[in-house]
Amino acid sequence: MTNGGSFESIADFWDEQVGEEGDDFHRLLVRPALLRVLGDVSGLDVLDLGCANGATSRALADLGARVTGVDVSARLIELARQREAARPRGVRYLVGDAAHLPDLADASFDRITASMVLMDIENAEGAIREVARLLRPGGRFVATLFHPCFQIPEG
Ligand SMILES: C[S@@+](CC[C@H](N)C(=O)[O-])C[C@H]1O[C@@H](n2cnc3c(N)ncnc32)[C@H](O)[C@@H]1O
Repeated sequence: MTNGGSFESIADFWDEQVGEEGDDFHRLLVRPALLRVLGDVSGLDVLDLGCANGATSRALADLGARVTGVDVSARLIELARQREAARPRGVRYLVGDAAHLPDLADASFDRITASMVLMDIENAEGAIREVARLLRPGGRFVATLFHPCFQIPEG
């Protein structure tokens, strides 16, 4: 995928809605469950796949993780970098397709997250293959997804 994906054209709207820390959906519902399953991330190398404007990446960095955020939307990564510049946490943001991340070395992450992302990735199988390559032995991959009953009919 090279065109920035379906979020490229709504990147500014998404950033406005989600803001610095995430919206209620992130903060009250998804993130507590995600963090519970991830466990203690302090001092760990964490990859946040489909990081969008970096709301989850920032939360992980605030818990002491060394975070890399990747998103296929160049505009969302630009917005994430602007937020990083305004309040540095040491998060590295990269534009990339989760199914093809040649710049990231084998076995270089302790934890990988894909929060509300896999259902939006064109090549989800390829992304899972990359997760397997990028995780260190004993590492953990945690994904959150929409339950199928919340999918819009045309989606
Ligand atoms: C529903 S948003 C979730 C964003 C963020 N994880 C959150 O919870 O706020 C899905 C994100 O996945 C990204 N995405 C879609 N396909 C992708 C791919 N192939 N590689 C990387 N990111 C992708 C989109 O650009 C979008 O930012």
